[in-house]
Amino acid sequence: MLYFKNSDIAYTYHVSVRTVHNWIESAKEGKLDLDLYRQGDRSYVSNTARNIETIKQLVANGKKFRPRHAVESLEPKPEFYGIFNQAQVYDIVTNLVMHHEIPRQYNYFSNGADHWDEYAQRLIEEDAPNLENSTIELLGMSQGYLDGLLRRFKKVNIIDVGVGNAWPVKELLGNLLEQGKLGRYIAVDISPEMLRIARDNIKEWFGGRVDFEDYEIDINREGFGNLLAEDYIKKDSAETANLVLLLGGTLGNMRSPDSALRVIHESMSFNDFMVYTMKLDSEGTRRYFDFKVDPGDEVLPPIHGAVIDLLNIDPSLYQVEMGYDQLKHQRYERIRLKKSINIRFDFDDGEWPVALDKGESILVWRGLQLSAQDVTDQLNRNDFYVLHASQTPNREYLLAVAEVNRD
Ligand SMILES: C[S@@+](CC[C@H](N)C(=O)[O-])C[C@H]1O[C@@H](n2cnc3c(N)ncnc32)[C@H](O)[C@@H]1O
Repeated sequence: MLYFKNSDIAYTYHVSVRTVHNWIESAKEGKLDLDLYRQGDRSYVSNTARNIETIKQLVANGKKFRPRHAVESLEPKPEFYGIFNQAQVYDIVTNLVMHHEIPRQYNYFSNGADHWDEYAQRLIEEDAPNLENSTIELLGMSQGYLDGLLRRFKKVNIIDVGVGNAWPVKELLGNLLEQGKLGRYIAVDISPEMLRIARDNIKEWFGGRVDFEDYEIDINREGFGNLLAEDYIKKDSAETANLVLLLGGTLGNMRSPDSALRVIHESMSFNDFMVYTMKLDSEGTRRYFDFKVDPGDEVLPPIHGAVIDLLNIDPSLYQVEMGYDQLKHQRYERIRLKKSINIRFDFDDGEWPVALDKGESILVWRGLQLSAQDVTDQLNRNDFYVLHASQTPNREYLLAVAEVNRD
């Protein structure tokens, strides 16, 4: 590309489009040393290494001067430190400083879990296709394939990674119970509250017939291989399969989905299969936001706003932006600050002040847009072998079954 789009510069450097526009105007007037690319009567910032350095300098200079009256000083709400442990608070702060992002997973904690539960149940009941009802549809359509794949095994353990409220897996568990094949049901989730909701649902649906185990694990960092190890060693291990579920687009919300896939890969062994569902890229899905907010709303939807609220960033301090980022192939939801803020985080060893300027943005949600081919490539590069893939008739949702590659 010969030049940068104003919106791409704004996105990459966390400044407003207006700021980029002002830089271009200053460059035109000879007040700023930026090379411009002219197209008709429009001017853009040329794609050169020198321009990138100049932009970085402009962004750094912009941060230096912050008159006190123009800055809102904030502290997280006291409950923030009860909900998250020190390591999680540290992770939130580093992501805020380094990537201008609240990692999606922290919004499922505390009452964020109830918000997700309500939202997911609403999606399941809808007639129009969405990620929840399409995941259930795809699992139903793939039941025959899974039955065939698992025929040679006497027992099947389910490891449900990012279990949510467990609704999508209800029918699969019922089927395995009916066949007398269900072994352990292992729910893995970063959020203790989400695990509690899943446990309550499983108890309500199946009484004591499902052996529910739950583990608080951040799948970006910690695997579950150790939970299965004892089964591999047992005499009848060849007769037991592990079915790892990664349902509901959880990976597509992560900054580095490949890191989590690698952790899952390293947790799996022979006789293990992964079932992965996600929403596919299309012109339609790029524009689609299913968050149950009205257009023009100036507040974040409850499923995305929990951490921002716990940080005490009041809606009057930001505006909400949603869109599709062509460069990163992702839909995004972010807030753009209308006023500069300082947030003071407390740690056992001291304080960590974080300064964010007016015009800067904080990403609260991303949905990676992948084609069916991209999903296959993603699995292949993380050393999975795709055994089966199916799509909903509208071509918007995909289910893949994969196993770990063997040498
Ligand atoms: C989009 S929901 C999907 C829930 C469920 N699988 C479904 O299809 O309805 C994502 C779930 O994964 C969990 N989660 C997100 N990131 C995680 C991570 N890094 N480690 C473990 N669990 C995570 C969330 O707490 C939430 O329960």
